[in-house]
Amino acid sequence: MKHSMNPWDNGFIIRSWDEEDGQDMAALHRRAILATSDEFYTKEQRESWAHGLTGEGYAKSAASGENFIIAVDENDKPFAFCGYKDNEICGLYVTPEHQGRGIGKRLFFRACINMFQKQPEKIIVSSSAPAVQFYEHFGYRVEREVTHDTRGGVKLNAFDMTSGEIEYSDLIGPHENRELSLMLKGKKRLAWFADLDPIDVFAPYVEEGVICRFAWYDYTRNFYEQFKENIREGAVIEVAAIYYLPGEEARVEEFMELVAKRHSSPDYNWERKIGKLLDYSPQAIDAFIAQLQTRATKGEESILDN
Ligand SMILES: CC(C)(COP(=O)(O)OP(=O)(O)OC[C@H]1O[C@@H](n2cnc3c(N)ncnc32)[C@H](O)[C@@H]1OP(=O)(O)O)[C@@H](O)C(=O)NCCC(=O)NCCS
Repeated sequence: MKHSMNPWDNGFIIRSWDEEDGQDMAALHRRAILATSDEFYTKEQRESWAHGLTGEGYAKSAASGENFIIAVDENDKPFAFCGYKDNEICGLYVTPEHQGRGIGKRLFFRACINMFQKQPEKIIVSSSAPAVQFYEHFGYRVEREVTHDTRGGVKLNAFDMTSGEIEYSDLIGPHENRELSLMLKGKKRLAWFADLDPIDVFAPYVEEGVICRFAWYDYTRNFYEQFKENIREGAVIEVAAIYYLPGEEARVEEFMELVAKRHSSPDYNWERKIGKLLDYSPQAIDAFIAQLQTRATKGEESILDN
């Protein structure tokens, strides 16, 4: 299958894996390991780490609960993947020629945004030595150094790392990371993801028809056209998505109309209406607006340059 890319895709898309991707995943996994620098592991250690990787191995891990997301090119050829399970990043590998393009980051963010929906206390990863700085870059810290027995029998040192405690509160970003559980309880009828979409964790419910998904391409296209000169290299831009409970189509329409009318200057009345459509409590809306006002005065960083 050939993919037609959007201009904001940067030449790759992320999708969930399929058993047929196993062979390509094993090949890229091996190459990513072997290409790590001598500075961290000897050739013998790297070969032992890459030993015995087979296409079927991913299906076995998937059967024990690991989720895989992969980055593919326009020919649907996988060149990077991330495995995660419960609150753990189990593996993140980008083929050497595609490293440094923001692909590891994008896979990592997508894995996290999906894991957050299950509200873990923290995210953990047992990092290889060469990847420690990558995770540190995103605020993770080393808890302890550990010794791993690799598939080939040679030992290597790795580092248990953690995100630190994740806060969930109705008042810090109303409903943030709790959209799925609130929707399944019927306490939230509409959820909106303008950039990172927890598509993988929602997928089974969308398939069952318990929750509906609308991919709002026009929103993303307009955003991209308007800001393309200022978008930082490698910035994460995903198609905006709206999730809603069946029967809430009118709410979705009202929401989209409001979003399309958004002014660039802060409009707290608009925020209030949006908050109501998203089923935020009045108290959460007040807190959210107060937070926006603080952010506006601090001029927080966005994915745009300016
Ligand atoms: C670690 C790895 C997944 C990173 O993937 P990548 O696609 O090259 O990384 P990205 O381009 O997405 O980098 C994202 C950010 O992290 C930073 N970063 C990436 N690797 C880094 C490193 N080793 N040290 C410091 N910073 C790093 C980048 O500078 C970038 O910063 P920015 O967002 O400010 O621009 C990749 O290098 C890899 O596959 N390594 C070999 C296999 C491995 O050890 N995997 C980990 C197993 S747990």
